[in-house]
Amino acid sequence: MLTEQGETYAGILGIGAYRPKRLVPNAEIVDAIDSSDEWIQQRSGIKTRRFADDSETVVAMSVAASRDALAAAGVDPRQVDCVILATVSHLLQTPSAATAVAHELGTDQAAAFDISAACAGFCHAVALGADLVRGGSARHVLVIGVERLSDITSPTDRGTAFIFADGAGAAVIGPSDTPAIGPVVWGSDGEPKQYDLIRQREDWRDVLVADEPVMPHLTMQGNEVFRWASFSMAKVALQALDRAGVTVDELDCFVPHQANNRITDAMARAMKLPPHVRIARDIVDSGNTSAASIPLALERMIRDGEAKSGDVALLIAFGAGLSYAAQVVTIP
Ligand SMILES: CC(C)(COP(=O)(O)OP(=O)(O)OC[C@H]1O[C@@H](n2cnc3c(N)ncnc32)[C@H](O)[C@@H]1OP(=O)(O)O)[C@@H](O)C(=O)NCCC(=O)NCCS
Repeated sequence: MLTEQGETYAGILGIGAYRPKRLVPNAEIVDAIDSSDEWIQQRSGIKTRRFADDSETVVAMSVAASRDALAAAGVDPRQVDCVILATVSHLLQTPSAATAVAHELGTDQAAAFDISAACAGFCHAVALGADLVRGGSARHVLVIGVERLSDITSPTDRGTAFIFADGAGAAVIGPSDTPAIGPVVWGSDGEPKQYDLIRQREDWRDVLVADEPVMPHLTMQGNEVFRWASFSMAKVALQALDRAGVTVDELDCFVPHQANNRITDAMARAMKLPPHVRIARDIVDSGNTSAASIPLALERMIRDGEAKSGDVALLIAFGAGLSYAAQVVTIP
């Protein structure tokens, strides 16, 4: 039997983003949850977020972010061999959003599939994409993180309404002359108590037999999530650095899932990040966009000059499942 011969190294070649047009300040959220702008900013760091309109679908936002990423990478859509789309808010059980995106972009019938790893989805997709390139199954992989969480967040839920938001980010992964995507450190904890910490509240089958059917919404036990993320995820982040052979002193950028600025602060403290490390803070005006948060934050840092080509960045994403993934990457 013959086997595939892959590339020695893979890297991120380009990053793109799509931010929905409508900005939603805290003032628009607070009345329904008896909260205040001050409380939300103090507890999460969020000032504004973006909610998608009807035309800004999961597929449309993904296509827009992907076009940016392909242009930044200088890769033609017909060179894309595989599209991996991470989301929890494509509300069709099947088919996947990825096949529609691959078609709209004009790929040559690229392999395409969705993955569900919640807020950790993008880092899972980066790990898969890098391995596909190194294993020889694909030369260029387009990875997308996209969410319309406003569809599945209750505006009256005090624990989630001010956190979750919409958007899309994408990255093109392809051959690299140097190691530019480090080993992934990933895992899960589906023990029943942890499984329920962040979840869709109702099973669709229960909704259908209810007297007054409601759209299933996300629910979160914020306190427990906060503790888990702040303490356990700093260790995972340090393991990812270790596996890549990078010290905190050699790190240029820290790009954690934009869950909550206080979680980011707690992780940075636990990891003893030196002051020169630039830390992503896209959450302030993007909210928590789950699978989209890391590519959105990366795009923002590159655009603002906070992350430069060749910089070493640590990505770590975590969320429902519970699931997590982290890796070191070189900024394209
Ligand atoms: C959601 C979160 C901000 C809530 O903060 P918290 O300190 O845990 O809140 P608690 O539920 O313990 O409530 C503390 C107080 O705030 C109040 N409160 C809760 N939600 C509120 C809201 N939206 N607005 C105003 N007050 C609120 C509570 O009533 C309580 O008041 P009390 O002390 O008078 O009883 C916090 O748990 C958190 O950030 N968790 C992590 C969430 C996250 O990042 N998830 C993404 C992971 S992917």
